[in-house]
Amino acid sequence: MPIIIDGKKTAQEIRARLKTRVDALKAKGITPGLSVTLVGENPASKVYVSSKDAAAREVGMNAATHVFPASVSEIELREHLLMQNSDPSVHGILLQLPLPGHLPEDHLLNLIAAEKDVDGFHPVSLGNLMLGRPGFKPCTPWGVQVLLKRYGISTRGKHVVIVGRSNIVGKPLANLFVQKGDGADATVTVCHSATPDLAEHTRSADILVAAIGRPEFIRGDMVKDGVVVADVGINRVEDSSLPKGYRLCGDVHFESVAAKASAITPVPGGVGPMTIAMLLANTLWSAESKAGISGPVDPVF
Ligand code: GUN
Repeated sequence: MPIIIDGKKTAQEIRARLKTRVDALKAKGITPGLSVTLVGENPASKVYVSSKDAAAREVGMNAATHVFPASVSEIELREHLLMQNSDPSVHGILLQLPLPGHLPEDHLLNLIAAEKDVDGFHPVSLGNLMLGRPGFKPCTPWGVQVLLKRYGISTRGKHVVIVGRSNIVGKPLANLFVQKGDGADATVTVCHSATPDLAEHTRSADILVAAIGRPEFIRGDMVKDGVVVADVGINRVEDSSLPKGYRLCGDVHFESVAAKASAITPVPGGVGPMTIAMLLANTLWSAESKAGISGPVDPVF
């Protein structure tokens, strides 16, 4: 049986540590503030946004969720984001993706002040990440890195294969793992929809990260014995036998891959909860930096 990497428990531990630091900051009269913006009715986005808001409150931060209809104009959204930029009680700004098609995601993300970019999606944050400099790290890739570290799984000298090249997960994760130092020092391969012989690559992975957005895409015959697997996918698959009418599954076919893996993250309860914990870590770091507290750049350890 592989080690089941428990992201829910790890995220809980991280949140408990963060709360201590939030309390210390509040004792100085500063409460970290997170501003979350949701546009439209995407059911998964609604769930994520309410989880982020609740998690921020649970560690003692202020959180405000701003909801706009899918028909909101670009101008209105821009004005709203600029107001968040100039609000001194807001330390972190998050614009939930995806946005409705008429809204230019890139332009709107660029508008968020780099010093409040707790999602780590701003070009400045991504530039710092690529250069190995301090800065906000995108929450899901950082969550994968922290999860492996907490389980004592070294990436040094390992072949990490990432399936998926999104700006949110695949590309930033590759940049994290190729850096020098603890939790990195890996040899990284990024595979995507134009990669021929995908299974040949995945079978050579010591550590495999699945971030494709296709339910149960990675199957047992695509991995080698002893592989460590991080499943970033959260997919809703129709299941009329369940009251909700769907079940959640990852990008990995758990049963067949777990039979060969040495360690694997489940869905749900794997990478997902880590994303939120890292968002809170970024928000705390933002508030601490603004307060002139030069603690460790990585607020988790
Ligand atoms: N949509 C899916 N994941 C994320 C995330 O981490 N942040 C935001 N803002 N939107 C997302």
